[in-house]
Amino acid sequence: MSGDRIYFSKPRVDRLLYSIERMAGGELQHQIEISPKRDELDAVAHAVNVMARELLYRLSELEKIQASVVQSGKLAALGEVSSGLAHELNNPLTVITGYVEHLRTMVQERARAPVDFEALETGFEKIGRNVDRMNAIIGHIMEFARQSNLTRRPLLLNGVIEKSFILIGEQLRLKNIQLKPQLSDATLMALGDGLRLEQVILNLLTNARDAIFEAHGDKGGKIDVRSRILSDTQLEIEIEDNGNGMTPEVRERIFNPFFTTKDVGQGTGLGLSISLGIIQDHGGSIGCETERGKGSRFTILLPRFLS
Ligand SMILES: Nc1ncnc2c1ncn2[C@@H]1O[C@H](COP(=O)(O)OP(=O)(O)OP(=O)(O)O)[C@@H](O)[C@H]1O
Ligand SMILES: [Mg+2]
Repeated sequence: MSGDRIYFSKPRVDRLLYSIERMAGGELQHQIEISPKRDELDAVAHAVNVMARELLYRLSELEKIQASVVQSGKLAALGEVSSGLAHELNNPLTVITGYVEHLRTMVQERARAPVDFEALETGFEKIGRNVDRMNAIIGHIMEFARQSNLTRRPLLLNGVIEKSFILIGEQLRLKNIQLKPQLSDATLMALGDGLRLEQVILNLLTNARDAIFEAHGDKGGKIDVRSRILSDTQLEIEIEDNGNGMTPEVRERIFNPFFTTKDVGQGTGLGLSISLGIIQDHGGSIGCETERGKGSRFTILLPRFLS
């Protein structure tokens, strides 16, 4: 060392650079070796080590926050769903109650009229089917509420879309909203997390439901749900409603977390930002075309799974 100039051997500087590059490439757990010299180069190495450890810590904190935001979005969707859950369960329950009543009368009056075993069998079969439906709804809600990491596996896209109908179909029917699925190709395969994708579709359907109710009240409206192959590598899902549509100012902000035009307690404003996050985690994108007073169309693009 002479004056304010410092000299280091090239191999040491190369080793340091190589280590920093590994860290920059994402290997934050890597630590640079400190030499017994404890000179300026070691001081730099030490500072980089500290920075990498700090980054690693911040990253894990961020992951925890992200998980809890995703979870709170899920809870928002779940709150939405559970308020309508009574309706979803009410329909099969009404059918079951009706059949039980019918079968009871039949048995009670067996002295006057012989028991119609065929009717008995149909009754039990209908009851069984509706109990299964209630089980499916409840099981589904429990599965949906469980926090899980994104697990991507090949899945049939239309199956995912249809599953999301289980949780909202009855609510839509009660609001006179026609659900019009055009799920052309039953073999469409995506690579993704079925429950998360379902959460996205459910968010878009509840938004469409609200927009239709806002525009037409109890008169209702319609939601078209389409899925198709867009190209060799991409699939497309479209969800289009004839609700109130958005002004350009609203449209610009819909993907911002906590942006909502709904009354306090009605919307958290997380639905679309969470949905966008999920789709981006899948390597896809969400677009929206809308016109105030006409309706909105959301388009989801997802990578296709080719077996
Ligand atoms: N299909 C739609 N038609 C009209 N406006 C929509 C539609 N989808 C979303 N928006 C607008 O975007 C805003 C943000 O939607 P987002 O789903 O993120 O939150 P939210 O529905 O208000 O609340 P949350 O989803 O948490 O219950 C909505 O408040 C609404 O103004
Ligand atoms: Mg919403």
